[in-house]
Amino acid sequence: MNIYDVYSFYPLAPVRGQGAYVYDAQDQKYLDFYGGHAVISIGHSHPHYVKMISEQVQKIGFYSNSIENPLQLELAQKLEQAAGISGYDIFYINSGAEANDNALKLASFYNNRTKVIALENSFHGRTSAAINVTHTGIKYQAPINHGVTPTYLHYQDIDAIISEIHKSDAAAIIIEAIQGVGGLDDISAEALVAIRAACDETDTIMILDEVQCGYGRSGTFFAYQIANIQPDIITTAKGMGNGFPIGSVLIKSDKIKPAKGRLGTTYGGNHLACAAGIAVLDVIKNEQLIQNSQRLGTKLSEILTNLPGVKKVKGRGLMLGAEFEFPVAEMRKSMVLDHFLFTGSSSNPNLLRILPPLNINENHLDEFKTKLTAGIQNHINA
Ligand SMILES: Cc1ncc(COP(=O)(O)O)c(C=O)c1O
Repeated sequence: MNIYDVYSFYPLAPVRGQGAYVYDAQDQKYLDFYGGHAVISIGHSHPHYVKMISEQVQKIGFYSNSIENPLQLELAQKLEQAAGISGYDIFYINSGAEANDNALKLASFYNNRTKVIALENSFHGRTSAAINVTHTGIKYQAPINHGVTPTYLHYQDIDAIISEIHKSDAAAIIIEAIQGVGGLDDISAEALVAIRAACDETDTIMILDEVQCGYGRSGTFFAYQIANIQPDIITTAKGMGNGFPIGSVLIKSDKIKPAKGRLGTTYGGNHLACAAGIAVLDVIKNEQLIQNSQRLGTKLSEILTNLPGVKKVKGRGLMLGAEFEFPVAEMRKSMVLDHFLFTGSSSNPNLLRILPPLNINENHLDEFKTKLTAGIQNHINA
């Protein structure tokens, strides 16, 4: 059987990882400033993470959501504390797309609307409204499952966003505080505050998709926290499990009240996933990774700004984009295959997306600078 051919990939296969590095079968070492697509938050195979997951699987790895699982509560409490948020309930799920699907569904349940305001260049995942073809789930189909009507607006066109919300016909507005796939543009704190107010006036649900920019990546726990607002719903995944599939929907439950059966999942919040999630938050706290993301992010941004060919640096913390004067696809490929450095792409062909683990140090930055400089020089001279 072949692998269904939907991915473009490099001809290499990492067989192990440690910290900011992955290694292939010949023990070639690669510096990972892509974090496995913004997923690796605490470094590859962190010893505490390995220990927690190994010990958990020896006890119990999985049972369904029809029993109590105290690990779910422990993870929720640690997340609340790490993020400095209150008033949210948590619904566990397995991926970012599913987290957003459920968030949109909750918004539609809440105000019975089906339109969704999203931003140009947004990326929120690939799931479809699968419940719409699930006959046994008819009573769990929200109006939004019958067809989402999206309206896309530019992140800087705040007047257009506010007047769209004021039409009072959108279930939700969904926002990445820093766009990942879209190319590292970030919405301002003032815009977030204005959107919050407009949502309150019109009973529109404000969803912050923190799947990529959350979990300390941007130098605050959630990227939206540059603004003093409380979203109605926050979604997480990626960094939450450091590679173990786990996501969550954080819901203001005094406003969006739970009802039995409306949401559900077999795997979400299972014992192993929770052990992974708890280990991640332990390491973020013990190693002060949010502060590290902020501090090293500033240094990394300076390094990038001064490299040849770089026009502009975007993003915050360790979620950065270097926009070059030329398309970067060939250079990025050569950096992996010739310089053993992983970086990411985005929908902007000139932009290199940089998403290292949050526990890198100055030595990693030096190594990155050397490799990237060599890659740029080769590209320019070619
Ligand atoms: C902001 C954002 N939301 C949602 C998703 C979808 O997450 P997943 O691939 O886990 O479904 C992604 C994935 O890149 C993302 O960057």
